[in-house]
Amino acid sequence: MKDIFKLDGKVAIVNGGAGGIGEVLSMGLSIHGATVVISDLNQEATEKTAQKIKSETNGEVIGLAANVTDEKSVEDLMQTVLKKYGKLDIVINAMGVNLKRDAFDYPMEDWDKIFNVNVKGTMIACKMAGRVMREQKQGSIINLSSVRGQRGYTGGNTGYCATKGAVEMITKALALEWAADNIRVNALGPALIITPGTQHIADNPELAKKYAQAVPMGRIGQTKDLVGACVFLASEASSFMTGQTLFVDGGLTAG
Ligand SMILES: NC(=O)c1ccc[n+]([C@@H]2O[C@H](COP(=O)([O-])OP(=O)(O)OC[C@H]3O[C@@H](n4cnc5c(N)ncnc54)[C@H](OP(=O)(O)O)[C@@H]3O)[C@@H](O)[C@H]2O)c1
Repeated sequence: MKDIFKLDGKVAIVNGGAGGIGEVLSMGLSIHGATVVISDLNQEATEKTAQKIKSETNGEVIGLAANVTDEKSVEDLMQTVLKKYGKLDIVINAMGVNLKRDAFDYPMEDWDKIFNVNVKGTMIACKMAGRVMREQKQGSIINLSSVRGQRGYTGGNTGYCATKGAVEMITKALALEWAADNIRVNALGPALIITPGTQHIADNPELAKKYAQAVPMGRIGQTKDLVGACVFLASEASSFMTGQTLFVDGGLTAG
């Protein structure tokens, strides 16, 4: 049997690819043989991340800025990738924002901002990728949900939880709509993962202990914990799987 986890010859776009999780998932795809396009808001950040990954994996990695909330921007990204590489096999939607606000006073402009990136952005990125993949009759899309798409959470997370619930339903609905075109749509559902944006939690022993104790495996997640599940969903290893969220959460959602 051939190595069904291999991504040799596959072309991937990672939206939010210069972010904490996006960078490590991009590294994982590159290590497993994929050509990787790091896409994010800031062109310099995409190039810097691409260079960093390339220097470690020696793979084909480039940076191309795009804004997932802007259809034209994502369409241009797809066209540039198609022109350069001739196809698109994998899209990871690893962009996202959280604006923690007290629910009694939740400013609706912040609600709109978080929905704009997490929900509308995910739909635009899926829609544009889906159009390309429909022509090819194959493709794998992986959205970043969260344990907070399954479970309510205190601390001003109403908006974030609602967006991740929506990401899960976008994932399921598109999986059904596009199954006949052989486009698979799945999601990753991480628990808290230490990235530059959440490093302050790891640096605060009391807070870190609180988060770790809530996880059955007794620790906080690291970005590398997500790579195996991502490569699995991107590769032939998951060829009969669509519409699922894989929770990488140390057992958190099992209870
Ligand atoms: N870290 C965790 O604990 C955790 C847990 C569960 C789920 N997640 C989810 O995993 C994903 C990645 O999280 P992360 O921790 O890696 O966050 P991150 O480090 O903040 O990375 C997110 C990236 O998305 C980019 N971005 C924001 N708006 C965008 C837009 N409109 N178009 C394109 N890119 C955009 C950001 O760019 P700028 O920095 O320039 O704004 C950033 O580079 C998110 O969906 C998050 O909700 C994270």
